[in-house]
Amino acid sequence: MAAPVIQIENLNLHYGAFHALKNVNLAIGAREITALIGPSGCGKSTLLRCLNRMNDLVPGCRIEGAVRFEEKDLYARGVDVCGLRKRIGMVFQRPNPFPLSVFENVAFGLRVSGLTDRASVNAVVERSLRGAWLWDYVKDKLGAPALELPLDQQQRLCVARVLAVEPEVILMDEPCSALDPISTAKIEELMLELRAAYTIVIVTHNMQQASRISDRSAFMLMGEMIEAGGTLGLFTKPTDKRTEDYITGRFG
Ligand SMILES: Nc1ncnc2c1ncn2[C@@H]1O[C@H](COP(=O)(O)OP(=O)(O)O)[C@@H](O)[C@H]1O
Ligand SMILES: [Mg+2]
Repeated sequence: MAAPVIQIENLNLHYGAFHALKNVNLAIGAREITALIGPSGCGKSTLLRCLNRMNDLVPGCRIEGAVRFEEKDLYARGVDVCGLRKRIGMVFQRPNPFPLSVFENVAFGLRVSGLTDRASVNAVVERSLRGAWLWDYVKDKLGAPALELPLDQQQRLCVARVLAVEPEVILMDEPCSALDPISTAKIEELMLELRAAYTIVIVTHNMQQASRISDRSAFMLMGEMIEAGGTLGLFTKPTDKRTEDYITGRFG
């Protein structure tokens, strides 16, 4: 595999009394697509959220272990969580543009970081929209409300919003689950294109999607990491019986 950018080490997460992640270990390779797979409720989203500390806000959530990003533990004291979420951005299951214009959605992170120079903001917005394959669709309606775009364009706008702050890693939690097959295909193509420059971790319950786009797959079950490896190998020659049962559709 590619050199890991993220190393998840002995990660345990409790929601109150519920043990949601059980001693999870996983390496995420640079400029690869890693797919987290497994039946609903196994902890995929929880694990994904640990990678940019989105669980911090959940009351009663307790995390032990380490998530090393470029060698440093994200959970160490003194980590700048806002800065971290720019470097490790997130795209959610339902497109969630802000109730602002197309332009302001993409410019949002720049404004928060205090970038005011108009030409620079314009340049970043255009570059990000191009990067998310959206520019040609929206260049003539940058002032229109983002929520009026078709759903797949809203999702690509959310990708553009993440790209604008120049992340290294993009986390995607079932980014196609609200989309039809044609829109899904567009997002998948986009992910393959983004892989040239970014590390991507995607949660998907769609086995075909995982096998089409991911370089590595990690199979989880009831909070445990059962098996991780190259996608082709994992899908054709799983080493654990439970992985085999899942990918052949015997449960989940
Ligand atoms: N905020 C929360 N509070 C309590 N339990 C939660 C919370 N989020 C998720 N869980 C529980 O943790 C388990 C894993 O959930 P999740 O990570 O969403 O699974 P997946 O994404 O694989 O469907 C589930 O049993 C779920 O009910
Ligand atoms: Mg989930």
